[in-house]
Amino acid sequence: MRVAVSHADDVALIRCDARTYGELLGFCAEERSEVAIVASELASNVVKYGVSGHVEILPVRSGERVIGVKIDGWDVGPPFHDFDLACLDGHDDLGRIDPATMSTRKGFGGGLGAVRRLCESVRLEQNGSAKCVSALWLRYAVGKRVEERRYARASGDQR
Ligand SMILES: Nc1ncnc2c1ncn2[C@@H]1O[C@H](COP(=O)(O)OP(=O)(O)OP(=O)(O)O)[C@@H](O)[C@H]1O
Ligand SMILES: [Mg+2]
Repeated sequence: MRVAVSHADDVALIRCDARTYGELLGFCAEERSEVAIVASELASNVVKYGVSGHVEILPVRSGERVIGVKIDGWDVGPPFHDFDLACLDGHDDLGRIDPATMSTRKGFGGGLGAVRRLCESVRLEQNGSAKCVSALWLRYAVGKRVEERRYARASGDQR
């Protein structure tokens, strides 16, 4: 599925669409929630930093089985200064966000960190003037590192 993103309302829309799509693919409620969070965080960034673009969710198969989804947030806005920094909690693409600016800026710098924790991989791709944050999300049943990530969350580990 593919949804155009240019306005904050589109973020709520894609959250619903992602859940519905997960249901079609046979995902359980918790899996659908994870897919919806990832899709809406990528969509929210497209609105805030990317001018306009779209989010695409594609099934990932192993033989007949759907083992996850690839969630891509495409936009044509300015490039990331440093993508790895941007994926750290409390950071933007230039470094740590000054706590004094938190209340006036457009977010807490937690979206990509959450996406990274929920997904197997998150990478930046480029296609001409368009760029894409591409997240690979896998179902619980296929060796997903659920326990490892739960441990990381519980211990405050920032990986
Ligand atoms: N599509 C994008 N294009 C350019 N820069 C981006 C894009 N998405 C994110 N960034 C940069 O990466 C930083 C981190 O993004 P992230 O989603 O983690 O945090 P945020 O959007 O600032 O806050 P939050 O997601 O918590 O509301 C952003 O502050 C911005 O500097
Ligand atoms: Mg964000």
